Order: sequence, then structure tokens, then C-alpha cells
Amino acid sequence: MNILLLGAGGREHAFAWKLTQSPLCTKLYIAPGNAGTQNCGTNLSISPNNFEAVKKACLEHAIEMVIVGPEEPLVRGIFDFFQLDEAIQHIPVIGPSQEGAKLEGSKAYAKEFMAEWNIPTAAYREFTQANLEEGLSYIDTQTPPIVLKADGLAAGKGVLILNDKEAAKTELREMLSGKFGAASSTVVIEEFLSGIEFSVFVLTDGNNYKILPVAKDYKRIGEGDTGLNTGGMGAVSPVPFVDQIMMDKVETRIIQPTIKGLQARNITYKGFIFIGLIRVNNEPYVIEYNCRMGDPETEVVLPRLENDLVELLHKTHLQELHTLDIQLHPKAATTVMLVSGGYPEAYEKGKTILGADAIKDSIVFHAGTKMTEAGVVTNGGRVMAITSYGDHFQEALAISNKNATQIHFEGKNYRKDIGLDLIE
Ligand code: AMP
Ligand code: GLY
Repeated sequence: MNILLLGAGGREHAFAWKLTQSPLCTKLYIAPGNAGTQNCGTNLSISPNNFEAVKKACLEHAIEMVIVGPEEPLVRGIFDFFQLDEAIQHIPVIGPSQEGAKLEGSKAYAKEFMAEWNIPTAAYREFTQANLEEGLSYIDTQTPPIVLKADGLAAGKGVLILNDKEAAKTELREMLSGKFGAASSTVVIEEFLSGIEFSVFVLTDGNNYKILPVAKDYKRIGEGDTGLNTGGMGAVSPVPFVDQIMMDKVETRIIQPTIKGLQARNITYKGFIFIGLIRVNNEPYVIEYNCRMGDPETEVVLPRLENDLVELLHKTHLQELHTLDIQLHPKAATTVMLVSGGYPEAYEKGKTILGADAIKDSIVFHAGTKMTEAGVVTNGGRVMAITSYGDHFQEALAISNKNATQIHFEGKNYRKDIGLDLIE
């Protein structure tokens, strides 16, 4: 099968790494990919948001399956674009329809969906410019911290947690006046939940679902979970505090009603659902849905999956997921992200990266990297994810941390404490 994978991050390198292990994968193309995916297949210099260019590449390379890594093409409707075009409607697209992608693309939609299906989540209200005054009064009735969320996609910056009401009111005004463009023309204000977060990944074909390995990512730039939010500085899988009792609650209270809700709304959804959860008093609550896999969670989830990924995704398309069982790797995995100096604020690109190829006891997934005549250079904030296996995550962490010292580029930064808060 010829496969086209869309995206350019560490998540996509992990997908590419896993897909090429399948005997069912004939040729793999990645658009646009990075210096790591180039070793798994052919990079195509195409933006995943340019659907016409994606279509052209599909026809040119006789693509038989498209796998969508990031959310943006899904939220923009790439699934529907394929369905509506006779020339490419035979090509399965792994990812939800545009309506399904609203679970990530609109926080207000996701909250309303959860309310309808009684899925546990923080209490909320939504506001626009038309009822701004009501929003300001609502903030007065709340006890800080106050959580404000831009309704639409805001490149991971659309959630603000304010410790005082006046600051929250100022933010609400600014958001509704276009702080995040159209993404914040609606704002969700929700109850603050205090607890520990984890991520559950589900692959669904619309009728059936499979639960993938659970993971926890580390979003803050600094050790001890301090400093600014990032795309993710590392992840572990499994997550020790997420036991079978917790997973049973997640499955019956959250996963099953989510799938039933999608079916009841006639939403076509053949792809991944990433459920961001928080444990409050030992009960799971949904913080958010994403319509794709997580990054860097994928860099620990896929290494722990023993199944043939092409087969899993093909069965997803055929709506035959019930015929397969998920096979887990017995070891734990930890990934440590190397980032550019200055990230998540301004940083420089184009720094030469040395030492990655010599690493043999970890899997080095490229994220923001690029191949140039002078070799591999940095090309983003998050540069490489170093994934290791161990009997437990600390053992895996020690290997990743050791190897983090073996990869060199100017300004390299990383957290050495991924998972250490989980030691009981
Ligand atoms: P989101 O983009 O919805 O994942 O939110 C980003 C981060 O904000 C989450 O990972 C949480 O750490 C935090 N957050 C979001 N909603 C809440 C909430 N209701 N209570 C506490 N923290 C939250
Ligand atoms: N690691 C969080 C995300 O992918 O959204």
C-alpha cells in the first residue's frame, strides 16, 4: 500500500517509523516531513493545508491511504474534501470528518457535546461580544482561578488561567475583541479543576474502538513543571497512577458515550480521538478533546504498540476494528524533547545538529529538523524527541537523559525530570 502521511513533527516521524515496519507499507510519502522522516520514505514539499496540492500528490504517487497528523487540515475539512471529489474519494483518509474535528476545533461545540452525553467535564458558560456584560457578571460570581478558553484553534495559546477576577475581565474583553482573531470571537469560561492530568488515545472506526497506551505529557518549559507552556517537553507511557479501575471509569463514562454521541449525530469519524483528562478526587474529567494523536505522546504510544499500524488503520477504514486486539510492548517508554534555546519564546533556527546518528539504545524522533547541504540543522522550537524503553519509566528516562547529552546543537535545552513527579 502506498501511504501519504501529513505533518512535520516528532509525532509524524514516530508514525513514519512505525508505518515502515509494516510489510503492508509499499511506499511512504511524508508531506512535508522533516530530516528524520526522510529516512523512512520520501518527503514532499507540500503544506498539509493545501488540499489541491495533496490531491495532486495522491494521484501522482498512486496513494492508497492518507494519514493526517496535525489537527489543522482536519478542522479545515480534508476528510470531506476527499469524500466530495470523485478523483480521490476512493482513497481512505485516517481522521475525522470536519464535523467530527469540531471536538477539537470548537471548545464550545465540545462542551455542548459533553453536556448532551453526560460526559464528566468542568462546568462552563460561553460568551460572545453580544453578551459580554453577562460574561463580566459571570466572572464576578466565580471563585478564581478562572479558566478562559478561545473557542477555536489558537496554536496552543488559547487557554488562559487567571488568578484574579479583574484580570479575567480584561482578558475576556481582549479575547472577544480579537486577541486570537476569529478563534476567540466566542470564549468558554469554565470551572477550574485541580488534579493531575493524563491522556487517553482511542482509535475508532465509527462503530468500534480500541484504546491505545495511556500517556502523560509535560507541557511546561521548566523542571518541576514551572515556566511557560510549550507544545510538550516529554512524555511517559504507561502512567503509574492510571490503574485498571481508573481506565474502566474512563471507558464507561467517557469513551463509550463519546462514540455513541458521534454515532447519534451521524458524524463520520474514522481516526484518533485524544482525550485530555484530569483526575479529581480519583474521578476522571475531560479537559479537552483533540481529533488527532498527541505530540510528544505519540513518541511513547507508538513504540509501545506491537500491532501492525497499517493493518490497524486499514481495519479502521473498513470499520472492522473489532477483528483486532491491541498488543502492547511489555516495557515502559519515556521520551525527552530537545528544544531550541529561547523556546517557547523567540529562538533561532539553522543550528547544526551532531551526534544523533550514533545513538543506538534510544529511538531518536526528529521534530523541528531540516536536511541541508551542511547536514541536519534545527528548524523549529522542538527539535528531537529521544524515546527509550525500560522496565519502568525512570529506567527509560535515565537512558534518554544520557543520550540527550550526546546530541549537540547550539542552545540545546531539555528537561531532565520527565515523569519524576509520578514516583509514589
Ligand atoms: P487545553 O488547550 O484545553 O488542553 O488546555 C490547556 C491546559 O490548560 C490543560 O492541559 C490544563 O493544564 C489547563 N486547563 C484547561 N482547562 C482547565 C480547567 N478547567 N481546570 C484546570 N486546568 C485547565
Ligand atoms: N501534547 C499535547 C498535544 O499534542 O496537544
